[in-house]
Amino acid sequence: MTTYSLLILPGDGIGPEVMTEVRKVIGWFEANKGLKFDVSEDLVGGAAYDVHGIPLSDATMQKAQEVDAVLLGAVGGPKYDNLDFSVKPERGLLRLRKEMDLFANLRPAQCFDALADFSSLKRDVVAGLDILIVRELTSGVYFGQPRGISEDNTPGNEGGRVGVNTQRYTSGEIRRVARAAFELARKRNNRVCSMEKANVMESGILWREEVQWVHDNEYADVELTHMYADNGAMQLVRNPRQFDVIVTDNLFGDILSDAAAMLTGSLGMLPSASLGAPMANGRPKAMYEPVHGSAPDIAGQGKANPIACILSFAMALRYSYNEGDNAALWKARSRKCSPTACAPAT
Ligand code: IPM
Ligand code: MG
Repeated sequence: MTTYSLLILPGDGIGPEVMTEVRKVIGWFEANKGLKFDVSEDLVGGAAYDVHGIPLSDATMQKAQEVDAVLLGAVGGPKYDNLDFSVKPERGLLRLRKEMDLFANLRPAQCFDALADFSSLKRDVVAGLDILIVRELTSGVYFGQPRGISEDNTPGNEGGRVGVNTQRYTSGEIRRVARAAFELARKRNNRVCSMEKANVMESGILWREEVQWVHDNEYADVELTHMYADNGAMQLVRNPRQFDVIVTDNLFGDILSDAAAMLTGSLGMLPSASLGAPMANGRPKAMYEPVHGSAPDIAGQGKANPIACILSFAMALRYSYNEGDNAALWKARSRKCSPTACAPAT
């Protein structure tokens, strides 16, 4: 029988408590479905900073590179807000994404029926919503050089400073995430909408041209449309069900996926998968994490809903462990839970 390796990084805030619930789900699969997991656990974010003085140790990074999948809880909290930028909890997360080269971030936004009335939009706009945002995760303004804060004495700013970040995309980076989006669309409703700001950014022009190239040369069977990201934001709150798969860059994807998540009634219920190139076993290098943050205001009170983290594990079953049937099984069970309480079903 195959043993699947899993590195659990609970992180900060509600991370450890939601992960405790995921461990019960893993135990359930071992006891009832004959799956076998080799689970190890380590530190990330503020929890790693407290012990090592950095938000991700080299040893943990190395482990993450070797396992079939990483499951991360959440990072950050008020205790770490004033740390130097280079050791902030978020840097640990960004290092994992970058060094594992997890370029395709899948953020599904599905509206659970029980939650449709919790959405800030009307039930008839969001009921049955099922969209997938594919966010580029390893490039763009998050990582582009040059970056930094320096002194600046340009006229009108004498004695002042300047903050610089660089939006930068290569053809290769755009094409690989576009391919991921088209592949996923083929398994869904066969439609991709690509979002950028080609009206003001050269990187947006390149984005549009390269996505179109991949479509015309490799995925002509999939319907492709393009939209400026600001219009995309508006369309997401106007009529979100018009979308199937949305592919977009790192920063627009960060923002649009939060908006899409909220359509479903709660950011706290959604999983995500970050996938890279195939490993020797043919499965993609992968990290799974709930879309929600560390929620320090409710941490340690037993109130945190673990569904997003459990569904992230379900995504691991599908994409890393080739256990699609078992992933669907758990997803069906989670859908029956109430929005505020969910115990693993037996
Ligand atoms: C996300 C988060 C992260 C991001 C933060 C925690 C660095 O907002 O995963 O969407 O900006 O990518
Ligand atoms: Mg975000």
